[in-house]
Amino acid sequence: MTALLRSVAQRFPGIETMEGAGVRLRRMFGNRQVPLFDPYLLLDNFGSSDPEDYLAGFPWHPHRGIETVTYMLEGEVAHGDTLGNSGTIGPGDVQWMTAGSGIIHQEMPQRSEGRLSGFQLWVNLPAKEKMAVPAYRGLSGTDLPIVPLEHGGKVRVIAGTFDRVVGPVRGLSVDPTYLDIDLPAHASIELPTPRSHTAFSQVVNGSGSFDAAPGPRASPGETLLYGPGERVRIAAEDGTLRFLFVTGRPIGEPVAWYGPIVMNRPEELNEAARELQTGQFIRHRSPILEE
Ligand code: FE2
Repeated sequence: MTALLRSVAQRFPGIETMEGAGVRLRRMFGNRQVPLFDPYLLLDNFGSSDPEDYLAGFPWHPHRGIETVTYMLEGEVAHGDTLGNSGTIGPGDVQWMTAGSGIIHQEMPQRSEGRLSGFQLWVNLPAKEKMAVPAYRGLSGTDLPIVPLEHGGKVRVIAGTFDRVVGPVRGLSVDPTYLDIDLPAHASIELPTPRSHTAFSQVVNGSGSFDAAPGPRASPGETLLYGPGERVRIAAEDGTLRFLFVTGRPIGEPVAWYGPIVMNRPEELNEAARELQTGQFIRHRSPILEE
């Protein structure tokens, strides 16, 4: 039933961007792509062997109205937040942080002998959850189920389901799927997707075909946004293909966005700015910080 296969609707090579206090990264999609990727707002792809590209980091800054999902592939990021969480995210680890009504945190890449690389995905929250109590999930890479593929590859399940294996991030209203897939040379895979959900692939390494029909191959670093359908088909070329596969239920609400704060109406952004100035932005703190 080829008709149900999704085709690639748009390809995004990413734009080189400076973020935080001076971190060089590639923004795969962001503000200009609202509402193409709904419920996803932004995907940053960072990777460098030169510490000067990342050491400045992301010092203390606020978030409200969204979730930020950091997935490290190489190197380490130290973090701390107003909920009292602190620690290090290392290779294979995931930090799924629900800012809700507001957190202030810092994310500081640590000097690495080799490369430091990873992804940060922003997930929008529906209006009724934007001011919810913040939540934090720190997942070690060893917490992630790995499903071996019969021809030699593997699927790491961060959120959603693959082959009846459910990922550790559950219960979110946009029903996200977030998979990290290794496909050996010349192997292919079909992934079912709910018909109404947004779906995209992010190529990490290798190259392959991501489309329903034979077309131009996708190379490392590209993001491929799918059109409608019920499943996608992906095939590796000569070498191993590693890619992220993400789906989610669109929210379909207005987006008012200023920096790290994403709400529905401009007045809500003004309110957040006022609260930041008057020290009333944080509604929920850790018990230690409250003293
Ligand atoms: Fe942040």
